[in-house]
Amino acid sequence: MNGYDSQIIDHLKDRKFKSILDVGCGDGDLIRAIQEEFPRVSVAGCDISDKCKYCDITKKLPYNANSYDIVCTAAVLIYFSDEMAERILRKIKRVARKEVFFVEMHNDKETSIDYSIRDYEKILSELKFKNIQCEPLKCGWPGANNCKDCGYLISAKV
Ligand SMILES: C[S@@+](CC[C@H](N)C(=O)[O-])C[C@H]1O[C@@H](n2cnc3c(N)ncnc32)[C@H](O)[C@@H]1O
Repeated sequence: MNGYDSQIIDHLKDRKFKSILDVGCGDGDLIRAIQEEFPRVSVAGCDISDKCKYCDITKKLPYNANSYDIVCTAAVLIYFSDEMAERILRKIKRVARKEVFFVEMHNDKETSIDYSIRDYEKILSELKFKNIQCEPLKCGWPGANNCKDCGYLISAKV
């Protein structure tokens, strides 16, 4: 599990949901951890790599509207421009029935990666998300377990 996966599991413990989709899931560690913790929940993941179901988040997502209670993405939006991140959030919103959340990092003291975190509260408000919440990540990139204030777990209702 990534450092932030356990924080995501804790975040989900407060929610009622029957299905969850992880967009840009990589090798699927997070969805496996969610399935283990919530065995009755239907989990799915997609990624542009060949490790799981194919999707390209810059294009239309291969899912029906409102098809998952929660849609999440972790450490993916940071790679895209502000404009594309906003377009991706719009696509994610289409697929989500209740909530979206995503993990984004802006600083990692261990690897010296230093990205600027964008103003997600503003972007999500403009996209008409509700109940926008940002909580600091307890730890950031995999392996950076001592990293404090690395980024945020951002959630919003659709
Ligand atoms: C830093 S990894 C994060 C993986 C995983 N979410 C995690 O937290 O470990 C970024 C992921 O974004 C995926 N990705 C990059 N561009 C993408 C695109 N256009 N569509 C879908 N996935 C993409 C990559 O293949 C990679 O798995």
